[in-house]
Amino acid sequence: MLIVPSILSANFACLERDVAAAVAGGADRFQIDIMDGHFVPNISMGPMFVGTMRALTRLPLEAHLMVSRPEQWVEAVRAAGADHIIVHAEATVHLHSLLQAIAATGAKPAIALNPASPLSLIEDALEQATMVLLMTVEPGFGGQKFIRMVLDKIRRLRSALDQRGLACDIEVDGGVDATTIGWAREAGANVFVAGSSVFGAEGGPGAAMARLRKSALGASA
Ligand code: DX5
Repeated sequence: MLIVPSILSANFACLERDVAAAVAGGADRFQIDIMDGHFVPNISMGPMFVGTMRALTRLPLEAHLMVSRPEQWVEAVRAAGADHIIVHAEATVHLHSLLQAIAATGAKPAIALNPASPLSLIEDALEQATMVLLMTVEPGFGGQKFIRMVLDKIRRLRSALDQRGLACDIEVDGGVDATTIGWAREAGANVFVAGSSVFGAEGGPGAAMARLRKSALGASA
């Protein structure tokens, strides 16, 4: 299992400190949320910020593109240092070509789905993806409540992947904390993005990630 702090919830005035604390605490990689104010009702970071993170850590970086024209941003986020590029199936009508274009840059292609989007949207693209991100909140903001309805979708995706013999990760993002991480892990997710429960936690990111790991592993024991 991997724990991926979402940098959206860090204190940008102390970015270097927060990144270092998360690295010291055992972060497996970082997620960078790229929003355009169109696909989601918020604007956050762009490719330049990916470059900033690249300068601050050697850990892998995943760019979660919450933008209306993901095709336009693949080259830039890759050039800035993203190792994984996650695109929303809802944001493109050419998912096959988009995943191919990501792979051609050398980045790992991943597909994201909003809470109410069906798995049927991506079932014919699973062979092309190294990971599927099932959103457990509507994308756009940190600090929202985990949508439990998605647990069933995690279960169905895990069994579809197993049936087809595909080694594709299932990532969850949104409202992941010491309680919900266990639910998601039990349902079959193995990569966990956490923002406010890491950067907003008492004791700092290290202690927070230790709690998350313990809860997740406890759930599968
Ligand atoms: C939502 C983002 C998340 C967000 C998660 O659009 O993709 O990464 O930062 O934040 P928490 O963990 O606070 O729900």
